[in-house]
Amino acid sequence: MATTLLTLSSPRVLMLTLTIVLVVTVAPKAEAARAFFVFGDSLVDSGNNNYLATIARADSPPNGIDYPTHRPTGRFSNGFNLPDIISEQMGAERTLPYLSPELTGQKLLVGANFASAGIGILNDTGIQFVFILRMFTQFELFQQYQQRLSTQVGQAQAKRLVNDALVLITLGGNDFVNNYFLTPFSARSRQFSIPDYCRYLISEYQKILRTLYELGARRVIVTGTGPLGCVPAELAMRSRNGECVPELQQAAGIFNPELAQMIQQLNRELGSNVFISANAFDMNMDIITNPQAHGFVTSKVACCGLGPYNGLGTCNPLSNLCPNRNAYVFWDPFHPTERTIRLIAQQIMTGSTEYMNPMNLSTIMAMDSKN
Ligand SMILES: *[C@@H]1O[C@H](CO)[C@@H](O)[C@H](O)[C@H]1NC(C)=O
Ligand SMILES: *[C@@H]1O[C@H](CO)[C@@H](O)[C@H](O)[C@H]1NC(C)=O
Repeated sequence: MATTLLTLSSPRVLMLTLTIVLVVTVAPKAEAARAFFVFGDSLVDSGNNNYLATIARADSPPNGIDYPTHRPTGRFSNGFNLPDIISEQMGAERTLPYLSPELTGQKLLVGANFASAGIGILNDTGIQFVFILRMFTQFELFQQYQQRLSTQVGQAQAKRLVNDALVLITLGGNDFVNNYFLTPFSARSRQFSIPDYCRYLISEYQKILRTLYELGARRVIVTGTGPLGCVPAELAMRSRNGECVPELQQAAGIFNPELAQMIQQLNRELGSNVFISANAFDMNMDIITNPQAHGFVTSKVACCGLGPYNGLGTCNPLSNLCPNRNAYVFWDPFHPTERTIRLIAQQIMTGSTEYMNPMNLSTIMAMDSKN
C-alpha cells in the first residue's frame, strides 16, 4: 500500500494532477471574470502618479504598511484601496495602473486603472500638482487602451469586453479642497457662490459621464464626495473644537444630491440604468459620527500625519504613525484606512437604495450575469 502511494505521488504525477486542477479551476474563472475600469482621483489611484513628475504621490513608507508586500504602491492607504476591494468582491484580479509597464498581454483583459491623485472634475483643479492625469487625459488613455486591446483580441471582442465591464468613477472632492477652498480668496470662490459652483461642477461632470458612455461604458458606479469637512486635514486647518467644518459640509450637502439627480436624469435619457450613484457621503458619515459602533477608536485623528489631528502634511517617513491601523477611520489627513474602505465596499455591495441608487453591486452582478 505504502509503496504504491509513494510511486503514485512521484513529482511528475503530482505536477500533472496540479496542472489539471489549475486548468479546471482557473480557466473558466478567468474567462468569466468581468473587466474593471477605474477613473478619478487619489481615493482610487492605484499608483499611476508613481510614473509622473508630481508631488501628489503615495510612494513612500509607511503608505502600504499593511499591503501584502508591506511596501508603498502609490495607493493612498495603509493597504488596499476601494478598487482592490471591489475586484476582490467580483472574484477578479486587481487592476493595474494604466501607466504600469506590467500592464501588457493577458493582463489587459483584467481592465485598467486610469485614476490620478490630485485631479478633479475641472481642469484647473490640482494645478499645483502640475503633471497629473486630468479627466480628458484619462479618457485619451482609455481610448489608447482600447486600441491595444483590439490589436490583441480583435475589435469585436474588445468592444464587448468594454461594454460588459464594471466601471468606477470617483471625482469631486478635489474641486472643493484643492480648488474652491484651497486658499481664502481662490479664483473659483471669487467667481462663484457655492450653489453656483456646484451647478457648474455638475454640468461639467455630466459631460464627463456622457464621454464615458460614448467610450463604451455601460455599468458605471459614480461616487459622490465624502464628508469633506470631517477629514483630519480640514479639522486641523479650520475646525475650532474638532467639529466638522460647516462650509465644506454644506458644499458637499449641495453637490451630492444634485449629482444623484443628474444621474437619474441621464439614465432616463439613455433608457437604461447605466449609472449607479454611490452615496459616499452617508456611508462615511455613519462611521464618522459613531466610530465606536464600528470598532474604531477615533474618526478625528489620522493614523499617519503631523500636527493637530495628525491632519497636516502628507503621510511620509517623518509622520506620526499609529500602531493599530484598524482602530482609525482615517489613514492620512484625507484618506480612509483599509478597514474603513472595507465597510464602504460592503455598502456598495449590499446597501439599500439610500446608499446605492437604483441598485447595489450584488444586484448588478446578479442581473448582468444573466444577460
Ligand atoms: C480641459 O482641457 C481639455 C484639453 O485642453 C479640453 O479639451 C477640455 O475642454 C477642458 N475642459 C474644460 C471643462 O475646460
Ligand atoms: C442589495 O443587496 C441586498 C443583499 O444582497 C439585497 O437583498 C437587496 O435587495 C439589494 N438592494 C437593492 C436596492 O438592490
